[in-house]
Amino acid sequence: MGHGKLRKFAENETFACLVQPSTQEVLGVDHPLKGHWASDFFHNDKPIVLELGCGKGEYTIDLAKRNPSINYIGVDIKGARLWKGAKQATLEQMGNVGFLRTRIEFIASLFAPGEIAGIWITFADPQIGRENKRLTSPRFLDRYRGFLKAGGVINLKTDSRYLHEYSRAIAECNSLDILAVTTDLYNTAADTLQTHLSEEEVKSLYEVQTFYERHFLAQGYPITYLSFKIDHEGPYQSPDWDEEAWKDEDHHAFVVKIQ
Ligand SMILES: C[S@@+](CC[C@H](N)C(=O)[O-])C[C@H]1O[C@@H](n2cnc3c(N)ncnc32)[C@H](O)[C@@H]1O
Repeated sequence: MGHGKLRKFAENETFACLVQPSTQEVLGVDHPLKGHWASDFFHNDKPIVLELGCGKGEYTIDLAKRNPSINYIGVDIKGARLWKGAKQATLEQMGNVGFLRTRIEFIASLFAPGEIAGIWITFADPQIGRENKRLTSPRFLDRYRGFLKAGGVINLKTDSRYLHEYSRAIAECNSLDILAVTTDLYNTAADTLQTHLSEEEVKSLYEVQTFYERHFLAQGYPITYLSFKIDHEGPYQSPDWDEEAWKDEDHHAFVVKIQ
């Protein structure tokens, strides 16, 4: 491991805004913060919104700056990426930002029923051919349902047509309430997206460009956006999904992987 990474990992230990549970704290047991993020971490009762796969945390930070009445937690497994967001939140003394280093697979050990008001998923890996690792698969939606408030919304912003179409198909086949959908965000007028988002959230949607988004925009890929509610009784179904067709459409996902 390079010196830069070691230095970031060491500094991560000093950030009060960064929670890094050990495997023992989340594997099949509840983490001490589960159900207590408001009282024991943020020390207020503002709604809490998650960004899953937040990388360097650009989105979490921007949303938090624009929406001081909401608390945001960016979740990722990569410590060197989280360092960037946690460092900025620390330097700027942002009281409504937290970062959580964990595998999202463990998330049920970290949040209690009704503890989370909404979810953003930004530029997640499409996980082509690996549905159970895809962040909008039935397995993950079931985890989110365990802690999302009734009516809580999942927002998905991605360059990947594969992930976008898969997520739309899963929402449709489970009769989930789709609130907004576009396959070309920057050529879609903000007011034509159904306005479940606040004015400030719409600004973040159009104005924040994360590390990965900049990369894909530079290659000319349109950015997609989808939002839906996951209120649903019973198990989620997988969609009837043409893996091969969309895999070809999403060839750039492979290009990025091998770089
Ligand atoms: C393609 S990057 C996007 C990062 C950031 N949202 C952006 O737009 O720049 C996907 C991120 O999701 C994280 N990730 C993917 N699967 C994960 C999982 N199961 N648990 C935790 N983090 C995950 C990766 O570590 C990575 O930082």
